[in-house]
Parts: sequence; structure tokens; C-alpha cells
Amino acid sequence: MPSCIALIVAAGSGERFGGELPKQYLSLDGQPLLRRAIEAFRGHPAVGGVQVVYQPAHRDLYDRAVAGLGLPEPVPGGATRQESGRLGLERLAESPAGAPDYVLIHDAARPLVDAGTISRVVAALERAPAAVAAVQVIDTLKKGVDGFTAGTVDRSGLWRAQTPQGFRFSSILEAHRRLAGAGLTDDAAVAEAAGLPVALVPGSPDNIKVTTPIDLERAHRLLGAGLPDIRTGMGFDVHRFAPGDGVMLCGVEVPHTHRLEGHSDADVALHALTDALLGAIAAGDIGSHFPPSEPKWRGVDSTVFLRHAAELVRARGGAINHVDVTIICERPKVGPHRPAMAARLAEVLEIEPGRVSVKATTTEKLGFTGREEGIAAQAIATVVLPCP
Ligand code: CTP
Ligand code: MG
Repeated sequence: MPSCIALIVAAGSGERFGGELPKQYLSLDGQPLLRRAIEAFRGHPAVGGVQVVYQPAHRDLYDRAVAGLGLPEPVPGGATRQESGRLGLERLAESPAGAPDYVLIHDAARPLVDAGTISRVVAALERAPAAVAAVQVIDTLKKGVDGFTAGTVDRSGLWRAQTPQGFRFSSILEAHRRLAGAGLTDDAAVAEAAGLPVALVPGSPDNIKVTTPIDLERAHRLLGAGLPDIRTGMGFDVHRFAPGDGVMLCGVEVPHTHRLEGHSDADVALHALTDALLGAIAAGDIGSHFPPSEPKWRGVDSTVFLRHAAELVRARGGAINHVDVTIICERPKVGPHRPAMAARLAEVLEIEPGRVSVKATTTEKLGFTGREEGIAAQAIATVVLPCP
């Protein structure tokens, strides 16, 4: 595998953004933009290291932003974006470990770069000396003069360039040296001016460059819209029959020729469901929360256990998406009681009835449930927790 270093340029002043802090040191959901950009590359398997280009005047901000990452000493940048890129490349060229085969140059102001974009840029360097992440222009383009349109610009073949931009190291170093001072706004333009073929690879519409405060707000929304933390948990329980006149199932009294034996009210379905909810949030099992050895749980209504598990989910900022319970027995017949059971579960869990399912099955007279020695229950619960 070719060696590859990410060069992150962070030496700008963020004039268009305004404000006290240069934008690359602003926090996006608790982490500076620069740190997020660095982490995206550090965590990528094709990238062997990260080198930052910074402004020495920002040293304190820089040190705080990268604390604990163990990065090499940053390179002082230049007055222009092009100059900062070149100074970073010169540092890599002097590296005691030798210059890398590939370099990925990336703006610190693009904190949301994704692993797929990085992979595509690296992969393109096998077939071209330079590659730029870009997205196709989809809006119709208008030329404007004094607040009126002065024509429609053909958008076919137009792309918006992003970073990372990847290069075979020696080619881009040579190009930058040759074109120093040309005032070009990205490294792909340097490569083009040097006559290098530059491959266009799909970037991501979410890989935005934070230029103004509106962009930071948008980046915040994009992060929040990330993958939700969805969990599922399973539960299973069995209780044995004893002489009696009814059983509790899903918090509903069902008349029967027997009762279920147990420390509490022996509601086998609620016990399975409680375990499913606890499992979904990795919070142990019903026995660890309500030890059968404690006399206070004797004969207790099992909705107490279920309500507790639901509260643990809510205490973590989570919500119960769905629960599904299967009761396994020959008798009593569960069918007639299903609507009441589902309604009771929805009430105890404080969720909509449409998020609760209760089912029943026999085991064709096979096994302990088939011989009517007891009742088994299975449950599965899906919960959604706040994104980590
Ligand atoms: N950059 C740099 N050296 C410069 C100018 C810019 O390293 N002399 C970096 C910025 O820190 C940023 C990236 O290049 O990560 C893209 O530049 P831009 O978005 O224009 O950032 P700024 O130049 O800081 O912002 P502005 O143009 O609004 O002043
Ligand atoms: Mg700039």
C-alpha cells in the first residue's frame, strides 16, 4: 500500500466568518472544526499520519484543539492558501521518514469529510497523479447584473471542488514550487496549471466548507441528523403451573385452571419484556434489579418491574420505539385477551398502542409448554437513544 499523509491547512484567518476566534478553532458540537477534520483522517486506514499547517499567532488555540492527538509539530503557514499548501509540502519533503507516496490536502474548515470520500480520492491516485473530491452542480446557474438575470449559464460539466484533494507527492511538490505566488485557490488548480491530469471523484454534499456562521449552523444540523443510536434487546422467561384459578399475562388477569408459580405475580410475559428493555440499554437483567431473594418483591405486581425498565430508558434520554411479545402455551387461550394486553402494555410503557404487539403460539403439544407444565414468553424491544 502506498504511504499517505493528510496535510490539513488551518493557517487562515476566517475573515468572512468574522467573530473573535478563527473559524477552524470554533466548536462544532463540542469539538473544534480542526480537530474533527484531523480525526476523520487519523481514523482512516489508508492514511498513515496527519500534518497540520497553522498560524503561529494561534499557537494556544492550536495546542488546545489538538491536545492528546500526538501530532508532529505544525508547520507555519503563509499569507495565501496556495502558500500554506506549499509550505506544508516542503515540510513533508524534509520528513526524516522520507516523503510519502501520496498526500491528501484538506481544509480544516471542512469538518464533516467522510471516510468514503477519502477512500475515493486515494483510490483515484492509482490512475491519475491528482484527484479532487467534487460534486456536480445541480442548480440552474444564472448570471446576475444589478438584481436581474442576464442569462442562464450552461451547468453541464460543472463541478464544485471540495477537499480532500489527493496527489502523488513528488508531482504536486514540483507543481507548487514551479507555480509559487500564482494566487490559485486550491491545490487542484496548481496541478492543472502544471499540466497534471486531475481526476474528478464524487465527494459528498455534506462535506461543506464552513465559511460563514450559517455554514456552522448547517454543519450542526448535519451532525444531528446522523445515524440514530437504535438498540434492540431480547427477553425470555418461563413459569411453572401450580393449582389455582387464573394467570397474569401482560398485566391482565386471565381465568384458568391453574396459576403460575413465582416470587412476584409470575407474569411471565412482563418478565420477558422487562428483560428485553433492560437488554436494549445493556442494563443487566430483571434479577439484578429486583433480586428474588428480597422479600419486598413477594407477590408484587410485575408492572412495577416493567415501568422501572421503561424509566431507565427515558432516564438516558431514550424512547421506546416498539415492543413485541410472544406468549407460548397451549392454554389458556390468549387470543381473546390480546387487545386488553396490548392496551395495558402501552399504558404501562407510556407509548402509543401502535408500538405494541402481543402474539401467542402453542408448541403443538410438544415440550413442557405442550404438556401444559408451564408458560414461556419471549419479547423483543427496540429503543432509540440520543446519538453518542
Ligand atoms: N488557509 C491557510 N492559509 C491561508 C489561507 C487559508 O491554511 N493563508 C486555510 C484555512 O485555514 C482553511 C482553508 O485554507 O482551512 C480554506 O480557506 P478558507 O475557507 O478561505 O479560510 P480562511 O482563509 O480562513 O477564511 P476567509 O477566506 O474567510 O478569510
Ligand atoms: Mg480564504
